[in-house]
Amino acid sequence: MTLMRGVLLAALPLALAQVNPPGTPFPNSTYPNSTDPLTDSGAQSGETSPPSYPSPWGEGLGDWEAAYAQAHAFVSQLTLLEKVNLTTGVGWEGEKCVGNNGAIPRLGFKSLCMQDSPLGVRDTDFVSAFPAGVTIAATWDRQLFYQRGYDMGSEHRDKGVDVQLGPVVGPIGRSPEGGRNWEGFSPDPVLSGIAVAQTVKGIQAAGIMSCTKHYIGYEQEHFRQGGPTISDSISSNIDDVTMHELYLWPFADAVRAGTASVMCSYNQINNSYACQNSWTQNYLLKNELGFQGFVMTDWSGQHSGVSSALAGLDMTMPGDIGFDSGTSFWGPNLTIAVLNGTIPQWRLDDMCVRIVAAWYYVDREANQVENAPNFSSWTEDTFGYLHYYASEDYTQINYHVDVRGDHAANIRTQAAKGTVLLKNNGALPLTGKEKLTGVFGSDASENQYGPNGCSDRGCDNGTLAMGWGSGTANFPYLVTPLEAIKAEVLSNGKSIESVIDDYAYAQQNALARRISDVAGACIVFVNADAGEGYIIVDDNEGDRNNLTLWHNGDDLIRNVTSFCNNTIVVMHTVGPVLVDAWYENENVTAIIWAAIPGQESGNAITDILYGKVNPGGKNVFTWGASRGAYGTDLLYEPNNGAGAPQEDFAEGIFIDYRHFDRVGETPIYEFGFGLSYTTFAYSNLQVQTHSAPAYTPTTGQTGSAPVLGSVSNNTADYLLPDDITPLVAYIYPYLNSTSLAASSGDPQYGINYTFPAGAYDSSPQPFLAAGSKVAPGGNQALYDILFTVTATVTNTGGVAGDEVPQLYLSLGGPNDAKVVLRNFDRITIAAGASGTFTADITRRDLSNWDTDAQDW
Ligand code: BGC
Repeated sequence: MTLMRGVLLAALPLALAQVNPPGTPFPNSTYPNSTDPLTDSGAQSGETSPPSYPSPWGEGLGDWEAAYAQAHAFVSQLTLLEKVNLTTGVGWEGEKCVGNNGAIPRLGFKSLCMQDSPLGVRDTDFVSAFPAGVTIAATWDRQLFYQRGYDMGSEHRDKGVDVQLGPVVGPIGRSPEGGRNWEGFSPDPVLSGIAVAQTVKGIQAAGIMSCTKHYIGYEQEHFRQGGPTISDSISSNIDDVTMHELYLWPFADAVRAGTASVMCSYNQINNSYACQNSWTQNYLLKNELGFQGFVMTDWSGQHSGVSSALAGLDMTMPGDIGFDSGTSFWGPNLTIAVLNGTIPQWRLDDMCVRIVAAWYYVDREANQVENAPNFSSWTEDTFGYLHYYASEDYTQINYHVDVRGDHAANIRTQAAKGTVLLKNNGALPLTGKEKLTGVFGSDASENQYGPNGCSDRGCDNGTLAMGWGSGTANFPYLVTPLEAIKAEVLSNGKSIESVIDDYAYAQQNALARRISDVAGACIVFVNADAGEGYIIVDDNEGDRNNLTLWHNGDDLIRNVTSFCNNTIVVMHTVGPVLVDAWYENENVTAIIWAAIPGQESGNAITDILYGKVNPGGKNVFTWGASRGAYGTDLLYEPNNGAGAPQEDFAEGIFIDYRHFDRVGETPIYEFGFGLSYTTFAYSNLQVQTHSAPAYTPTTGQTGSAPVLGSVSNNTADYLLPDDITPLVAYIYPYLNSTSLAASSGDPQYGINYTFPAGAYDSSPQPFLAAGSKVAPGGNQALYDILFTVTATVTNTGGVAGDEVPQLYLSLGGPNDAKVVLRNFDRITIAAGASGTFTADITRRDLSNWDTDAQDW
């Protein structure tokens, strides 16, 4: 991190950092150790994940207490079949949402509707297309994080969704090529953590559940579910320090903010699948972080029945093993496993309590809408099949409810405030008096197939306002840059022309030359796209193949700049791209990163270009001079024969700016950097010390695992009732024989299975030193405020503007990054006026993870 305007470095005395007495390491653990991150850090290939059992039962910590009391009362009334129904999806396209669990009609408890995405309601009409996670992060504005969450949550609620499948903090963005980085916020864990917490709170304040995903180490699309010649998913090999200080950090914030659910990811962590990894689920998430909600699988991310249950999984989505296979690891197999004792009843009860408590926690009961869900993910036709795959129950399935409210104005503000001005030689803001304005590039205009013309936005045609994959929503409209700029130019009575063909070099040259002659402005739009691995765009299997601009953007810029001496480059990109070929060109008079803006794209960029909004967004990642400058890259080719590809996160915590600092690599544009149309000065930096009680490792024991209601052992009670005609491929909880062995269909039934030691222990368990017995989020002393930093920020320019003071700390240890971001604020300051930046520093901010002590 290069120190720069707008960035404070508060160096605190190292001695003030807390040194913890050693806690008790987890028994039998062989934690992947971090040694010297400079040479040999991180977990290595073939790393294993330590076992941790039993699965912690939720106890209603903190503000979950009332929800737990209600959930206990509810779950106590349930039969075994009803409990299994809560935990298991009905199968792909069995109901109307991308995922639905089984209902409990006897008690009027409806099937829960799980619906993408992290930026709006997916697969339906009359919804808003919000700016992507990476864009809202670039606003560095807590209120906007919350507002966007609330608006998205409201739209999901009004469509009848119970769980919004977002926000995303995995991937965090280990490598810039990662296909889904843009769905999340930033490779910095603190920025990501603050953004995810505010988003979770916003979504849930609207009365629906959030699902923070994908847990954990899901940093690339290649091999996320194996590959053509590889049956196992990639293993992200992560050491314990890196896990705590980087990848787990924002999940801790989401848990502390009360996220109702967490989605376990497709990949393995240290060679154990995320959805059956007892270390990440039982130990880290439920024990150390005290997560009180439920863990659901990513779609087909489950790989076992009993093992995943014992390792802390609570819900399987969409319920079937392969889409529409009609088989499930749970469903009837969970019924069998509870009856034969391989899954203790208390574990099933805990799954149910967690699901139902989450439902109460966000007050779902008071937030129901008519006909919920009032849409079908599988068709936009008004009438169709309720059970789409089975083609059963023809009825009205889409009510076309417009849930957008007044969110368009917020979306425009968010996109403009998330825009980063990277270079400005005085070209901006435009005055509106330019005699002739030229707009260049396909990224300025419409997709010829329409804004929703490529399924799940799986193409890069026209202006890029969303990446591709499940993390998308249908655009209700998409304001293109060309139409918005044209409207602005026309309102000023001036001239505008455009060349939107990226390869029409002759026409580009001719227009650029005419603009130069009359001292007008050339605005060039370029982009770079990425998305989820199930769609391949231009040979990019989700992950980007390189960091260059798409559609030969460099050539377009070269062409325009060779004739136009006032070229403004606007980039819509999912992450950093290589700008080295042209950023210093003197004919490039301004450069803007306009992020992934959503439906109001054109209006937002026009607000910035013409100075209606003074840019205040800051980089949420580093812009390096070359791909190699990042020090991390993805694994594109298998490296373990037919076995699970091994991706060693050997760089430890050194991703993005931490890596640049470590190796002394000068970035082109730093993390945290962004210009304004005004200037700011900093003064009066002060550090105030608070007296907080000493850090005490948590001690004591939980209660024993609650058992709710009783389970009849009469297998005849669990057969398919005569009055139910099963739907094709639909997952039910019923047995098909009174013999459990026959019902399982498993020729190996009961033979030679071993089960993990401790998994059946329902007696009181010791709390972890780093855990908490009072509230989710880990040891609460971590959040004690030890220092408050204040500074005066003065607007020394001629226009009002927003500044984002950022607080970086140097932890000072031999394995620490040079500096790490710990706090920030976005402040609006009138010209000539001053504002006060105030930032707290918590104990957590000053702590390192100690693997031996298993404590901070
Ligand atoms: C994605 C998830 C998504 C799910 C349901 C999966 O392929 O990884 O992010 O929520 O599908 O659409």
